[in-house]
Amino acid sequence: MNISPLIKASELSLSFPSGSGKIEILKSVNFSLHDREKVALVGPSGSGKSSLLMLLGGLEQCTTGSIVIDNNEITKFSEDELADFRKENMGIVFQSFHLIPTMTAIENVCIPLELAGFKDVRKRAGLLLGEVGLIDRFDHFPAQLSGGEQQRVAIARALAIEPQIILADEPTGNLDQNTGDKIIELLFRLTEKNKSSLIIVTHSITLARKCDRIVELIDGKTVEK
Ligand SMILES: Nc1ncnc2c1ncn2[C@@H]1O[C@H](COP(=O)(O)OP(=O)(O)OP(=O)(O)O)[C@@H](O)[C@H]1O
Ligand SMILES: [Mg+2]
Repeated sequence: MNISPLIKASELSLSFPSGSGKIEILKSVNFSLHDREKVALVGPSGSGKSSLLMLLGGLEQCTTGSIVIDNNEITKFSEDELADFRKENMGIVFQSFHLIPTMTAIENVCIPLELAGFKDVRKRAGLLLGEVGLIDRFDHFPAQLSGGEQQRVAIARALAIEPQIILADEPTGNLDQNTGDKIIELLFRLTEKNKSSLIIVTHSITLARKCDRIVELIDGKTVEK
């Protein structure tokens, strides 16, 4: 059995220069995620939750520290290596969906499949949209879809390649309670079906308690709850 964590982030710091000196967002973050684990990342607004998620997803660079994912030290990767790693291993879901407005639902889901070199891309994307309950919305553009429908497309897109790791940043923050609950149910169901691991940023304690573990960001550091 492989007991080493899937993600191991050690002594991560992130700071930005500002007029009045340096702003330290993350000071000393140690974080790990095990295979098939679901972790909730909580903390007050501005505590650095989105920033940490972006570091783990290789979308932003830390100031110091290291991130090892599945034995790859991604903090040593070049931009190209990071892009390759992401397209094969990561699915990211944002609060505000981030769909491409000029592409239809099915075209949005096709993108990561094409990037990762899958065959029968359109057929696969269609099956996925069916799975998230959007069988009759293939050719709709994002602006023609409700918020909940857009988030379901975004989930289908993020999970299309059956990524090892799913990073979700307040995926239901822009949805009503009932729609949000259904989206979470869907996200959890697909995470389990694909045998993926999930980090979800949330302000909802009810949602956090549904995860295997809760990690809180306080004062630039992670605290296990
Ligand atoms: N590129 C940047 N330059 C300067 N400051 C930044 C940058 N990105 C983030 N910050 C600052 O880092 C802090 C943490 O931001 P972050 O978005 O990670 O917080 P958060 O915990 O996700 O908050 P929320 O719950 O409101 O989404 C904020 O004070 C923000 O202004
Ligand atoms: Mg945030």
